[in-house]
Amino acid sequence: MQLDVEWIRSQFPALSQEIDGKPVIFFDGPGGTQIHCDAIAAISNYLIQSNANAHGAFSTSARTDATIASARNAIADFLGCDPDEVVFGANMTTLTFALSRAIGRDLQPGDEIVVTRLDHEANVSPWQALQERGAVIRFVDVNPEDCTLDMDDLARQINERTRLVAIASASNAVGTINDVAVAVKLARAVGALVFVDAVHYAPHGSLDVRSLDCNFLACSAYKFFAPHAGILYGKREHLSRLQPYKVRPAPDEIPSRWETGTQNHEGLAGVVATVNYLSELGQRISPAVKDRRSALVIAMETIRQYERELSKELITGLLQIPGLKLYGIANPERFAWRTPTVAIRLAGHSPYEVAKALGDRNIFTWNGNFYARHLTERLGIESSGGLVRIGLVHYNTVEEIHRLLKALEEIALA
Ligand SMILES: Cc1ncc(COP(=O)(O)O)c(C=O)c1O
Repeated sequence: MQLDVEWIRSQFPALSQEIDGKPVIFFDGPGGTQIHCDAIAAISNYLIQSNANAHGAFSTSARTDATIASARNAIADFLGCDPDEVVFGANMTTLTFALSRAIGRDLQPGDEIVVTRLDHEANVSPWQALQERGAVIRFVDVNPEDCTLDMDDLARQINERTRLVAIASASNAVGTINDVAVAVKLARAVGALVFVDAVHYAPHGSLDVRSLDCNFLACSAYKFFAPHAGILYGKREHLSRLQPYKVRPAPDEIPSRWETGTQNHEGLAGVVATVNYLSELGQRISPAVKDRRSALVIAMETIRQYERELSKELITGLLQIPGLKLYGIANPERFAWRTPTVAIRLAGHSPYEVAKALGDRNIFTWNGNFYARHLTERLGIESSGGLVRIGLVHYNTVEEIHRLLKALEEIALA
């Protein structure tokens, strides 16, 4: 199964722009990806033809209702769940705070929640906020040598008092993919819920909430080639049982009871178009594929394989640069456990200086802690500027990697 990267790149108008007369390399994907052309058109079309609030007795409002419904169907196919288990919101952080607040209503003092030092703060702070309801927060440590989760510590932190385990599918800072299945098994054994942060993983591989058997999973559309929309999957029984904070006239049915106020309808129109693009990608790879869900799985699995090759090219090259330290899994045999998000430091240069020198060459990377602050603190690099993060997605190429490596060599030797 091969990706037609040339065709893929032709689908993303931002990739062909030049800044100061030179092409641009987007290695900033973990902070937000570029948007597919159909999604851009869908946003514009929605605003021209359908712009209205929901549930009105006139046609543009009916079109808006249809847009929301088709976004739910699209994300249900993307995640492998039913449409009424898909909640939309401003972003993942806001949805997670809404969920944690609702879960907090049922907690008793001394109930425990397990979070990790590898996670983005959006999967830590909303749970830590429940300390005000008497909850005890337990942190799972990381193995600093390869930035993987300490799975023995995970097993130690989960006990009979655990009510929820909050874990990421993958780290947005260093790219580690977690063994979420093990976390689900440990949590199930004590009757605890599992919340999965799939924001970073979503553009890199297929998601299947049923086989994962988690209770909740969140992602963010702007991280997988769509415009801004937060997405929360919740198992139907939990979305029905828990009491969200909501206004009185808003519907009591799931999933709308979890959706406060008016949605970003044009963003949802864009989400549908992006999911359809990914499905088209799957169909181009495997023309006999029958339905959108299967096409999405094929597309995302092919993306995963392509990105593994990119990781090999990138990491092999990085390790040859003098004074460069890589944070995360470096052994190619273990690349099934990482995304192509690679964190580094360069001796003698702060992460900001490196990102700035790359940015000046039109190579866009991020520097800092990326809100994975427990990790940069644990690694002892928070006060010295954190990390440089090179984040690849399926529209990036080997040629771009070679340009980055050359630039880093120049910076290292300067
Ligand atoms: C792993 C991870 N979780 C959560 C978030 C927060 O997502 P949002 O910006 O949609 O709130 C991010 C954003 O960077 C992230 O990378």
